[in-house]
Amino acid sequence: MNVYTINGGNRLYGEIEAQGAKNSALPILAACVLADGESVVENCPRLSDVDNTVEILRGLGCKCERSGSEVTVDASGVCTSAVPDELMREMRSSVIFLGAVLARTGEAEICSPGGCEIGRRPIDLHISALRSMGAEIVRDGDRMLFRAAKLKGCDISLAFPSVGATENIMLAATAAEGITRIHNPAREPEICDLQAFLRAMGARVSGAGGLTIEIEGGHKLHGVRHRVLPDRIATVTYLAAAAAAGGAVTVSGARPYQFSAVSAALREAGCEITERSGRVTLVRHRPLRAIGPVRTMPYPGFPTDAQSILMSVLASAEGSTIFVENIFENRFRHAGELEKMGADICVEGRVAVVTGVKRLRGAPVVATDLRGGAGLAVAALGAEGRTRIEDAGHIARGYEQLDVALRTLGADVTVTEQ
Ligand code: UD1
Repeated sequence: MNVYTINGGNRLYGEIEAQGAKNSALPILAACVLADGESVVENCPRLSDVDNTVEILRGLGCKCERSGSEVTVDASGVCTSAVPDELMREMRSSVIFLGAVLARTGEAEICSPGGCEIGRRPIDLHISALRSMGAEIVRDGDRMLFRAAKLKGCDISLAFPSVGATENIMLAATAAEGITRIHNPAREPEICDLQAFLRAMGARVSGAGGLTIEIEGGHKLHGVRHRVLPDRIATVTYLAAAAAAGGAVTVSGARPYQFSAVSAALREAGCEITERSGRVTLVRHRPLRAIGPVRTMPYPGFPTDAQSILMSVLASAEGSTIFVENIFENRFRHAGELEKMGADICVEGRVAVVTGVKRLRGAPVVATDLRGGAGLAVAALGAEGRTRIEDAGHIARGYEQLDVALRTLGADVTVTEQ
């Protein structure tokens, strides 16, 4: 795995462009399986998770080509319904192939998905929804075979607005007989992007972003060209980097209303944020101050993916900030690493109390997961001295050349192979 070495203390200045959204690109690439033809996905970020998704598509019989940020998927040759185990275990989002492959072939065989170690990540909501649509499920150890000669549309009320379950149901429902309604769906922008993609393919889907999504299944879908929306979490990571290190950073091609909960928190901490025609600029010249409780919530609440990143910023703010993690049960593993850098953090279950110290100091730390790793990089940029982040390969799962972008902004960052 890679090691990041960051010499903190440089203020960051400059402009970078928002990368395409990982969490949009992955389900949209999986959705390409639904068309009996060629789709082109533009603005696909160059990430290891995207590479894995392309490998899964190839394993299913699709022809895939990548040219820059464009991925072309010809799904006319889909010849199997089994997602290869080793790729399935590489990343949690591979579970999205379940709905897509079931819709395309009437069967899907998967093993338990992998992904970041941020707590138990069951797929019971996916399973019970597909079961109520008529899928039969046969388990063999940790392998599961889903089978449905004909899926049937129905009303599904999600007990929790799971992003992945909402996407899987949307994908499966495109092939179901009749109408499927998802009540209490996830409302994330990436769900709206998937809806836009499916509609362009010829699917009848409406309601994404609201309280009920309705899908009328059974329409033949064709290949399309689609541009993935900008990544809101990567964007706020660069803004947070400027908040931690000081300076002025602009991210262009962003959609600020999609991360307003994070902007509000950064403003409360003393940063100035201006937004104009997709360009968002964060300026931080003053010392940071603690803010009111940060509670992670489903969209449009504060995103769990930005929790570690904001914690790194507030670790050197004046006063104490309370973080409540409501989405994942084990998402404070970065806190122990921040403590190695001198942070004062008290974790009790789903609550972390962060009392700002005057300045973090560089230290050897370990990236525990994708966003935890990015949070450590943010902390290191504002710290005094050198931080060595081991297992930084996690970062490449979600950030397109984070080190290059940070160097462009004036940071002293190098990446080496361990
Ligand atoms: C997606 C995002 C991830 C983000 C998360 C929450 C992708 C590729 N990943 O993950 O970056 O952090 O949304 O915004 O889009 N749950 C169940 N049973 C289920 C499904 C989920 O109990 O069947 C629970 C999970 O354990 C977790 C919560 O619901 O506690 C949220 O999970 P979910 O919204 O499904 O997240 P993902 O789709 O895995």
